[in-house]
Parts: sequence; structure tokens; C-alpha cells
Amino acid sequence: MSKYREPILKLITDARPNYISGQAIAEELNISRMTVKKVIDQLKSEDISIDSVHNKGHRLNHFPQKWHASVIRSVLQHQSLFQTVYAFDSVGSTQLEAKHRLIEHDESMLIISDEQIEGRGRFKRPWHSSKGKGLWMSLVLRPSISYSMLTTFNLFISLAIRDAIQEYVDEAVKIKWPNDIYVGEKKICGFLTEMVANADGIEAVICGIGININQDETDWDQQTRKIATSIKIQRSEAITRYFFLETLISHIQMRYTQFLSQPFTSIKQEYIAASNIWNRKLRFTEGEQQFYGKVIEIDDLGFLHVVDESGSIHRLMSADIEL
Ligand code: BTN
Repeated sequence: MSKYREPILKLITDARPNYISGQAIAEELNISRMTVKKVIDQLKSEDISIDSVHNKGHRLNHFPQKWHASVIRSVLQHQSLFQTVYAFDSVGSTQLEAKHRLIEHDESMLIISDEQIEGRGRFKRPWHSSKGKGLWMSLVLRPSISYSMLTTFNLFISLAIRDAIQEYVDEAVKIKWPNDIYVGEKKICGFLTEMVANADGIEAVICGIGININQDETDWDQQTRKIATSIKIQRSEAITRYFFLETLISHIQMRYTQFLSQPFTSIKQEYIAASNIWNRKLRFTEGEQQFYGKVIEIDDLGFLHVVDESGSIHRLMSADIEL
């Protein structure tokens, strides 16, 4: 594969919706027009639809089905959340890829894959990550924060994800504290946050996000259909994942900046209004303990206060909640 594949694809994506001439690409990269032509022919033989017109140049017709790092870089060129993008056709889990890359790299990263063979959710549950249908990604961030601040990270990020999905879905999109996003009674997204620490403090925060984008119900087994939904199911049409990624990253960047500079209280009312856990009996699992109860409040640190059936109050930092 030519080393010019990525930069040429980025230049063509940057130029969209306009054409960019072979001459301009050759000059920008200091290569011959013959090399440009060869690489563009190679791109066309993949899933990348490029229109080439004599005297005009080359234009990206529409976004590819697969993730390509250079197309992502072009679409996200105005963000400053992460420095490096890795895009894969298939991995075990983007979360594991992120952890491996942490050993050699000290920058912030976006790691995304079309498919995960061993995607994992909270409590190590399998996470259904079918090829080309969803958004399976891990963000490696490098906040200079204390351990105690990390508890509210999820709360800010969940609002970002909720707001991004709401831009694509008419029905109300809600947060199920602490890590799930729902439309009605069905889950559309789950995410998890892991931390890597050393003697000096937090080295990195790895946030793994899984969002159902273009799945049909037939992509899932009978059991999953009852509990899951996707943006496509909600809209009755497929969407371009690159556009959704752009929307999502811009919301995450905004909420991450807020997280670094403001306390949870600044978004608490917004968070409460966006949650679906109020005024209903829920089943809670916290470690080995299981009980039914009702949520009475989220406190200023983001802990959930729950009254169980015997009247006892539980203050939860994290739990598994069943609606
Ligand atoms: C949950 O609901 O339990 C959280 C699901 C998190 C899934 C995402 S998909 C990208 C990243 N890689 C994984 O293996 N898991 C997370």
C-alpha cells in the first residue's frame, strides 16, 4: 500500500464538495502526477467513490461505508480533543487496542473499528458490535485531574452522547444513570470509562462508546430486539456514520471542556431532566447486593440516592439498574 494513500485521501476529503486537481495534490505532497493517479486508482478499487473529471480533478462523491483514518481526520479537523486517529476494519475490542497503544504513546487518541470480535460492556458482558453498522470507539484522554473528579466524568459524557443522538432522533433520548442511553424502553448506546493510573496520578482515561447506528431489528436475535434500538430503526432510514461522528465529537469536546472547568452542579438540572430513572420502581445490583427501590436524588457529586422497599437509603457511586 502506498504511503501516499492516507494523505491523498485526506486532501480529496478536505476539498469536498469541490474537485481538487491532480496537479494540486502532486504539488502539495511533492510527488508526481503519475503517483497521484496510481493511488487514486487504488482508492477507487476499494469502497471509496471518487469522481475524476478531465480538467477538473477528483472529488469524493460520498462518504465510504468503512471507517478510514484520513477521512475521519478530515471530517474532525477542527476538533482538539485528540491528536491521533486509528481506524480498523476489525479488532477484538477498541478498548483493548487503546490499552495496548497506551504503552508506547502518550498522546490523546481516537480508536475506532468497523467491527469488534470481542466487544465488552460493563461487568465484562459481551457487546454486540456487528460490522459496519454501529459506532464502536474508544477515546483516550489525558486530563490532569484528581481521582475524586473522575466520578463526574461519566455524567458530562452521557449528556454529550444523549445530545448527539437527540439531533438524529425525534423521540426523547434519555440517560439511564450511570452509563446507558435509551430511546423509550430500549437501549441505543452503552459506554464505559476505565482509568489508567501511575504513582503520579491519572495517566489516561479510556472511554469506550458503543452506539447502535444502522442496525435493523433483523441484525439482532429475538432477545436483543426486545431491549435494543438503533438510530436507523428510530428514523426509518440509514445515516452517514461520518456525519454522526462529527456531531458526537463536537458534543463530547464541549462537555469535556465543561467537565474540566465546572462542577457537576453546573449541569445537574440538565442531567436530571435528561434522565429516565425518576418515579419508577427499579432493580439495582451493586456488587453482590440486589434490591428494588426508587431514586430520590442525584447529589452534587453525582451519587445516586435510592430508597429501597424496606425504607433504607443507599448512596450509590455506580450500579447496574434494570428498568
Ligand atoms: C455497556 O453498556 O455495558 C457498555 C458498552 C460499551 C461498548 C463499547 S464499544 C467500544 C468499546 N469497546 C468495547 O469492547 N467496549 C466499548
